[in-house]
Amino acid sequence: MANKNIVILGGDGIGPEVTAWGNDVLKNIADAFGHTFSFQNHLIGHAAIEATGNPLPDETLDACKAADAILLGAVGHPMYDNDPSKKVRPEQGLLKIRKSLGLYTNIRPIQIFDELAHASSIKPEILMGSDILFFRELTGGIYFGEPRERQEDGEVAVDTMRYSKMEVRRIAEKAFDAAMTRRKILHSIDKANVLESSRLWRETVNEVAKDYPEVKLVHMFIDNAAMQLIKDPKQFDVVVTGNMFGDILTDEASQIAGSLGMLASASVGDSVGIYEPIHGSAPDIAGQNKANPLATILSTALLLDISFGMKEESQAVIDAVDAVLKDGFRTADIAESTTPKDKILGTDAIGQQVVDRIKAAVAS
Ligand code: IPM
Ligand code: MG
Repeated sequence: MANKNIVILGGDGIGPEVTAWGNDVLKNIADAFGHTFSFQNHLIGHAAIEATGNPLPDETLDACKAADAILLGAVGHPMYDNDPSKKVRPEQGLLKIRKSLGLYTNIRPIQIFDELAHASSIKPEILMGSDILFFRELTGGIYFGEPRERQEDGEVAVDTMRYSKMEVRRIAEKAFDAAMTRRKILHSIDKANVLESSRLWRETVNEVAKDYPEVKLVHMFIDNAAMQLIKDPKQFDVVVTGNMFGDILTDEASQIAGSLGMLASASVGDSVGIYEPIHGSAPDIAGQNKANPLATILSTALLLDISFGMKEESQAVIDAVDAVLKDGFRTADIAESTTPKDKILGTDAIGQQVVDRIKAAVAS
């Protein structure tokens, strides 16, 4: 029996549609296992800009600081994408909340659901058996370094890739710890042949490695890693990398899991964690009951496990998603040409399938 306070940040586009199902899954888990979860919805991103002018209103940040865990949908809106005149942008809300809550570790597990091997653009025999755990540094690097500005009357733009040893050390330790519980292989991805910040990254990871003699550490350049990931994904176990490289590689790695619509993530640091799907706000399908809520539902499994230490509850969510896939149900993004029409479901119908299985498993 536990009492927990969960903040839901639906955000933009398909965000609120998918977090609604994450919320429902958590509510059903609480009922089934005798916990009391309370939920509060707050604004972030474009939705928050429209309502308050601020992509991360104080009210949202305060509620998040007081929460036991946060479930987030997606942030982003196309009206900002090609318009540099817009100084206030949805993504600033996401970057600020990560920074304000000290969420320097973004964990992105990439596991192939065997049923979805054919939904990927990569050959199934290359994918089968892949199991990668990404550690993406989330509050440093080029997404935060200063200066970041226009110079010379707007003719020049500058971003700054900056890392301190402390920032590298703390995420490297988390990645090594995880490797110790798995196959004991850690790939550290950088661009140390060109970037000074990468040379500091590599040097620091080597220092941390001395405390983990059992882990096989492999350094790999980002360009090679991007290629190796689709050439032979099974060579990877745990991967640690900086903010931008991790952003890019984990989108690429979504093809190993079958679809971006399936990937969950956890952002943790020293306090409350944020759990969110890796996919974006997908404005083209927003409000059409087409979005795949499974990545968000799988994010609730991470939330239950990592923030609440509820292993059994977490497994119940994963098993329910597995069962829905095994029964042949798909959303459009993970359907194949051979998937029968009546098995291709919308957001609400597939969300309900997951909830029904959670209820049935616990009742039996
Ligand atoms: C992600 C997203 C964000 C990021 C964007 C929306 C700012 O792509 O979580 O991967 O780059 O971190
Ligand atoms: Mg991304």
